[in-house]
Amino acid sequence: MTSTQNPPHAARYPAGALAFPHRDLIGIGQLERHEILFLLDEAEQWVTLNRQATKRENVLSGLTVINAFFENSTRTLLSFEIAGKRLGADVVNMHAAQSSVKKGETLIDTAITLNAMRADAIVIRHGSSGATQLIADKVDCPVLNAGDGQHEHPTQALLDALALRHALRARGEAGDDFTGMVIVICGDILHSRVARSNLLCLQALGARVRLCAPPALMPAGIEAMSAEVYHDFDAALDGADVAMMLRLQTERMSGQFIPSAREYHHLYGLTKTRLERAAPDALVMHPGPMNRGVEIDSDVADMIDRSIITRQVEMGVAIRMAALDVLTRRARGVEGWGDAA
Ligand code: NCD
Repeated sequence: MTSTQNPPHAARYPAGALAFPHRDLIGIGQLERHEILFLLDEAEQWVTLNRQATKRENVLSGLTVINAFFENSTRTLLSFEIAGKRLGADVVNMHAAQSSVKKGETLIDTAITLNAMRADAIVIRHGSSGATQLIADKVDCPVLNAGDGQHEHPTQALLDALALRHALRARGEAGDDFTGMVIVICGDILHSRVARSNLLCLQALGARVRLCAPPALMPAGIEAMSAEVYHDFDAALDGADVAMMLRLQTERMSGQFIPSAREYHHLYGLTKTRLERAAPDALVMHPGPMNRGVEIDSDVADMIDRSIITRQVEMGVAIRMAALDVLTRRARGVEGWGDAA
């Protein structure tokens, strides 16, 4: 196993650094389809490694990765930390309570501080849309967006695509491209960076995406992103191949967006009965954290043949390993990726 060569599907993207010419990973919106496929293919070797007893490949040995999280996180922070460690990097986590951090100068000062510590990659989660780009503009090393406000969460969309690919392959389907598939994303679309990144990623891979939310939780003008907009969940699910459920992002809501959690569950909760409207073998996804009994029922979340929620978590580590590896290649002087800085 080596991370220095293009993976088996090399024919579908340019060689070396041209396969992924970006210094940072800020959003799916900046990526070409072949760049998405490249990261997914790169992640495959890490899926294999992570399933072995010894999960170590020291390609990032001697490098320092800083995880700067200005918002709460469980799986994203943990999986970035595990990813960095499995690649042999020194990983440091910086937690900053959202309330103590102001936009503008403070954020820029933080960026300058992290830069002065000579990090080799910085992973940022921040409550403000655009904060990751702001930091990327101020530092010398690659920056990875671990979720910025309502904007993007690119590694989540990539891990979702990888989880879907694996689920399809496990069923004997090609799984490499989602052309012809209908994927419903249901929940608080308005406040969700996961919805935005997934819409872009799934469409780039050929899927038709139906977005479903109560009118108050659907962004105005979203039709311009070629999404099919639904307010009736039963209609959205009709014949769908995947139901991706999202949490109500109450921490981003100012004011009352839904009458009650009970009412919301009644109209937009994924129940076993409701799932019957989808295709017979439809898959169920959720980025976590789940609010069982609100957007998804426990007996659906835990369906072994249909729910790929834990597979999503598994793929998160592999995708983050791929992103850290690929983005540091230039600085490491990997052949075909440019000289060491
Ligand atoms: C998502 C996030 O933080 O945007 N969670 C995650 O990264 N696993 C979705 C959410 O918080 O609802």
